[in-house]
Amino acid sequence: MKRVGVLASGRGSNLEALLRGESEFDSYRVALVISNVETAGALTIARAAARPAIVLPHRGREREAHEADVREALAAHGVEIVCLAGYMRVLTAGFIVSFGGPILNVHPSLLPSFPGMHAQRQALAAGVRWSGATVHLVDSGVDTGRIVLQEPVEVMGDDTEETLSARILEAEHRIYPRGLDLIARGEGR
Ligand code: GRF
Repeated sequence: MKRVGVLASGRGSNLEALLRGESEFDSYRVALVISNVETAGALTIARAAARPAIVLPHRGREREAHEADVREALAAHGVEIVCLAGYMRVLTAGFIVSFGGPILNVHPSLLPSFPGMHAQRQALAAGVRWSGATVHLVDSGVDTGRIVLQEPVEVMGDDTEETLSARILEAEHRIYPRGLDLIARGEGR
């Protein structure tokens, strides 16, 4: 069973999905949750699930110093796989190399379309009929790493950013635990 560290900055619904997934997949366990935001809902969710949850603020810290804090915490908890779940910081190549294990992210579009912020708004502006969710490995680019799993979501004529985001989020919650399970078992292509 692989020990997973989740990095989250916000509400934490994907963290919740990963925690729920533990009962379906016995390949991983969330061993640590780190947030750079003290008020993040993800911390409340982690504590409710009795998981170690720590705040490592990035404000007032140099990027390298903050990443060193994160790396130290991951090592102290024996984390082997990192999952970004609404983590609003881009990790440096140095961090990715020095962690050494897989780092996963979930993104609300069918990558490589619409990387970066506001992916759902980008999809609506482009007029695509399908968007979706992607689980991918993290490299030093923005949403550019190897794709592990994807689920398409149809864009409806009357969709707003909110309604489309809500349907894509449901897809994220389905594929993130499955994608993590694949990586934890050394599978996935
Ligand atoms: C999700 O849409 C995720 O794809 C994006 O940020 C959002 C995080 O939501 N990277 P939550 O905090 O997991 O609820």
